[in-house]
Amino acid sequence: MREEFRRERIVPHVGTYHRELPVSIERLYENTIDWEHLPHLHRSSFARIECAESGIWGFRARVWPQPYNERRSIVIELQLDRELRRWITSTLNGPGTGTEVWTHAFSLAERQTLVVVDFFVPGVDGVRRSDIGSFYAHLYAGLYDEDVRMMSGRQLQLDSVRAGVAENTEPLVLGSLAEVRSRLPLVVSRGGRTFCIVESRGELIAYSTICPHLLGPLEQSKLQDGIIECPWHGYRYNIHTRQCVSGANLSLAIAPRVRIGTDSSVRLEFAEL
Ligand code: FES
Ligand SMILES: [Fe+2]
Repeated sequence: MREEFRRERIVPHVGTYHRELPVSIERLYENTIDWEHLPHLHRSSFARIECAESGIWGFRARVWPQPYNERRSIVIELQLDRELRRWITSTLNGPGTGTEVWTHAFSLAERQTLVVVDFFVPGVDGVRRSDIGSFYAHLYAGLYDEDVRMMSGRQLQLDSVRAGVAENTEPLVLGSLAEVRSRLPLVVSRGGRTFCIVESRGELIAYSTICPHLLGPLEQSKLQDGIIECPWHGYRYNIHTRQCVSGANLSLAIAPRVRIGTDSSVRLEFAEL
């Protein structure tokens, strides 16, 4: 008998969700123990998280679901077992204490992984089981939609870093100042790197759109007073100093200089990169 169904004698099994994901099992494990992304990538489901302990084994954290209420939080623990290719998320405290979500992962190809997710919720009688099971399946479908975008985006960046590209330091002419201003924020790619050009504090400035944390897409961030925020884990960067202002010892990659010629043409100069 499968171990999770033995558990059903104690906590009722209310439903299963399964999905083939276009990512490697390695990306999936990385995502699974990544507690920091919950209130950022999954901001419509989670408002805040405070991690008590974390490691390659998983994490234990206090989580505030949406809508945010300071007094409404749960403590969850996620334990990853790579040998058994599964992880168990348990609610240890707060509403739903005793709930367990068991996920098994099956690697179908290098970048194809099947996940089978079983939901166990205490105190649910026969009639409510399927409603609660559907609620969880719907919730997980939405969370995996967001996770797939992040995992695939990260894989794309890792592939492009691994592929490497020939350095091209020729200046890149973007057009007239008026034209460039009308297209801001302007995203420009050169040799596998991408930069975003914006106007901040009275100057045109380019910044690298690859987050130095886990390669998140910074071009998706709204610029506010010289600061951008990564949508994956919420790290914030000052585009003028390139420094992370969220306490992490990270800085944005050097970006090309934006030069305005005497003829009012705008070009990017890559010479110092
Ligand atoms: S990838 Fe983690 S904060 Fe950007
Ligand atoms: Fe996630």
